[in-house]
Amino acid sequence: MDQTMSDASFPIELVRDQFPAFRREGDIPIFLDNPAGTLVPQRVIDAVGHAMATSSHNLGGLFAGSKRADAVWLAAHKAMADMLGAASEREIVIAQNMTTLTLHLSRSLGRMFKPGDEIIVTRMDHEGNISPWLLLARDLGLTIKWLPFNRETWRIEANDLKPLLTNRTRLLALNYSSNMTGSVNDVPELAALAKQAGALVYVDAVQLVPHRLPDVRTLGCDFLACSSYKFFGPHLGIVWGREDILLELEPYKCRCSSDGLPERFETGTPQTELLAGLSATVDYLEWLGEMNGYSGSRRAKLRGAYRSFEAYENGLMRHLIDGLLKLPGVTVHGITNPAHMLHRVPTVSFTHETVSTHVIADGLASRNIYAWSGHNYALEPARLLQLDEDEGVVRLGIAHYNTLAEIDATLAAIGQLI
Ligand SMILES: Cc1ncc(COP(=O)(O)O)c(C=O)c1O
Repeated sequence: MDQTMSDASFPIELVRDQFPAFRREGDIPIFLDNPAGTLVPQRVIDAVGHAMATSSHNLGGLFAGSKRADAVWLAAHKAMADMLGAASEREIVIAQNMTTLTLHLSRSLGRMFKPGDEIIVTRMDHEGNISPWLLLARDLGLTIKWLPFNRETWRIEANDLKPLLTNRTRLLALNYSSNMTGSVNDVPELAALAKQAGALVYVDAVQLVPHRLPDVRTLGCDFLACSSYKFFGPHLGIVWGREDILLELEPYKCRCSSDGLPERFETGTPQTELLAGLSATVDYLEWLGEMNGYSGSRRAKLRGAYRSFEAYENGLMRHLIDGLLKLPGVTVHGITNPAHMLHRVPTVSFTHETVSTHVIADGLASRNIYAWSGHNYALEPARLLQLDEDEGVVRLGIAHYNTLAEIDATLAAIGQLI
């Protein structure tokens, strides 16, 4: 991919202008901690404030303010249904974050499992899609099977999954994209194998959605989780679940709360103002699609937005990886082959043979460059890669508002630090 072309065709200045973080006085940081949480455009901030001013009421009441809150709630569910490709908003469950939702849903799923049943978890996943299943297995006497990723392809391979599947396999908990290595799994292929064995498939797409638009209708999974604060929105988690399964599950809920979908899985009072921010996040992405010349349905414009920044991000990612590989003593933990860039998102982790990850991240911080050091809750990937758990990696995560100049400045800083 031609780097200059991608820079020239993507409206980067217009994009950065949407984010107040870039409009500050003085030194603007270089934000490369995006896999931990992205920046937020002004329209999202405005929507949250507006909802607090106008719709901060309980849902389901007879008065106007409550009806406004109902509308905010519904709009956010519809927006996320379009964004994930769901059949309807009934399939969209929204709560505090992905981890809480997964812990919550795992309890309901457990009601379908019997002692001795098997759950497959991977050595590629974030703890948010491992710990809930380990805890469930402990409580119910289930068997856990571990699925490694391939050290050469950096992905989970079908041939490693096949021998783990048995007639007792009830669930495959699978990462779409790793928060450490950035690798993207072939979810349709892996999900199809698990489904043939009669298992449910729970996909963690938290690290994919900031970079690629999923289409749950084509993935063959049963659940797909993401977090809007990773894709330019407020702190919320979203799980899409197939309607028939959400109906079949017995929810953990209050006796008098709605048994409808998705309310039966949204316990307690919703965060209405953040739901307004979530709709505005989808609006932002839709706007980005329009700015790049796409029209039609909301989903068509969203697809256009992702198409436009995928090429741009890939250019920055290749530049970052090439630059890191030129630095002496640096190991990049993930795909580096330019021919396989489609199999990863622009989350790039590295270590140095002598300099501590924390020293590098601290040095970057003192230069106003935001990056994280450690295992980032990717405990299993750190173990599989035989990294020191406390040291982990330095993680640099690109978003579509980063620039080539920022990547160059970061590479220069790392060069100095090592
Ligand atoms: C891949 C992945 N899964 C799950 C999570 C947890 O998300 P949340 O903070 O919404 O619980 C994260 C957070 O970093 C993540 O990167």
